[in-house]
Amino acid sequence: MKALQLTKHFTEGFPRDASEYLDNYFVISEVDVPKPSSSEVLVRVERSPINPADLSGLKGTYDASRRPELPFTPGAEGSGVVVSSGGFLGWFLVGKRVAFVCPKGTVWAEYALVPAVNCISITPETSFDIAASPCVNPMTVLGFVNTAYDGGHKSMVHTAGASALGKMLIKYCQTKNIDVIAVVRRDEQVEELKALGAKYIFNTSEENWKEEFKATCAELNCTLAFDAVAGDLTGQVLHNMPKNSVVKVYGGLSEKPCVIPPSDFIFQNKRVEGFWLVEYIKTRSKAKLFMWQREIASLLPTVFASSIAHVYTLEEVGTAISTYTQNMSGGKILFAPQGLDKAEKGEGEEGKGKEKEGTEEAEKETEEPEKKEEAATEEGEKKPLAVSGDINWIKE
Ligand SMILES: NC(=O)c1ccc[n+]([C@@H]2O[C@H](COP(=O)([O-])OP(=O)(O)OC[C@H]3O[C@@H](n4cnc5c(N)ncnc54)[C@H](OP(=O)(O)O)[C@@H]3O)[C@@H](O)[C@H]2O)c1
Repeated sequence: MKALQLTKHFTEGFPRDASEYLDNYFVISEVDVPKPSSSEVLVRVERSPINPADLSGLKGTYDASRRPELPFTPGAEGSGVVVSSGGFLGWFLVGKRVAFVCPKGTVWAEYALVPAVNCISITPETSFDIAASPCVNPMTVLGFVNTAYDGGHKSMVHTAGASALGKMLIKYCQTKNIDVIAVVRRDEQVEELKALGAKYIFNTSEENWKEEFKATCAELNCTLAFDAVAGDLTGQVLHNMPKNSVVKVYGGLSEKPCVIPPSDFIFQNKRVEGFWLVEYIKTRSKAKLFMWQREIASLLPTVFASSIAHVYTLEEVGTAISTYTQNMSGGKILFAPQGLDKAEKGEGEEGKGKEKEGTEEAEKETEEPEKKEEAATEEGEKKPLAVSGDINWIKE
């Protein structure tokens, strides 16, 4: 099978020129179709997003203690069709269209091994595009809201407020009567969030944003913030929140260290903590995570749907990453490891591919991996599938 493999970290950032990616940083390798263990299923991958965490992995900066060796296949989550099961746990999924998260990464390939418990069935009406981001962001939103409940908070500040996650958070919190104070950096983002019904939006490019932000936090007695940006913004947010506030830093989009005025720690009893989904879900029971999985499945087409900017083949990795890194708010960029036919490509219609939907096609697809495996065997030289990532949806 075909797998995209990273051969060199992007230590100097991501080139704008799409032609610099393949060969310099990535190769498309022919590797063995992996065999599922008794708790795993083999998924024919239809769509997989590029997430900010993937970019950190490509730079070699995502959790240095568990950095995979080069070359490795990135990609943490996606959607597709289960084509075989290694054991009884996943038999009922064979032939089903699913959304999944892959604890070891390796999703930017034609097939991926996924723990059976990390798959959720999707309805024929739910497109592979919509189902491509079922875990990382929706689970984090549920983690934020549960953190708020646990601490008795009725509101929260959220930076990078117009991210895919930020939009999900706004929509989800509307159903839970939690106020989100969104912090963004551009006018267009203000308009986008207003269109979603967001009530509190602050644009850091406006001169007086801090005064108005401070007044709103005081009015709502908001003492909880989730910050994806870091750098100066962490301190600006914390400084303008009420006494005893906590900012949980969960992303480093600015690529800068957090800067905090020391007096906020000393005299205001304010705190800065971290939030990482991987660790957070370890604190939740299996039953709770199972309920979250069900909730996400039901809300995927609505509250947890991300807007999709474009779908690319694995060969188009350069265009995919350079497009994403130049406009992260523009919607999710997805890979289609099986390729796109003319209709799916939209023949120049910029953007969305249409999925091969429906169970009939899914059934046909179950026949394919064995054939591909045989072909690969004949080719002789094959490489093992290297892995990345570590998010497990439900603890096994
Ligand atoms: N800790 C965890 O467990 C966890 C779990 C899930 C997600 N995350 C984090 O959640 C964040 C959002 O993920 P996503 O998939 O929703 O992202 P996304 O849809 O790709 O959007 C990224 C957003 O960040 C904004 N942004 C980028 N650099 C910025 C900067 N220097 N200052 C201010 N805003 C900036 C972008 O705005 P522009 O368009 O203006 O660039 C865009 O709105 C990421 O940091 C990700 O790593 C963390």
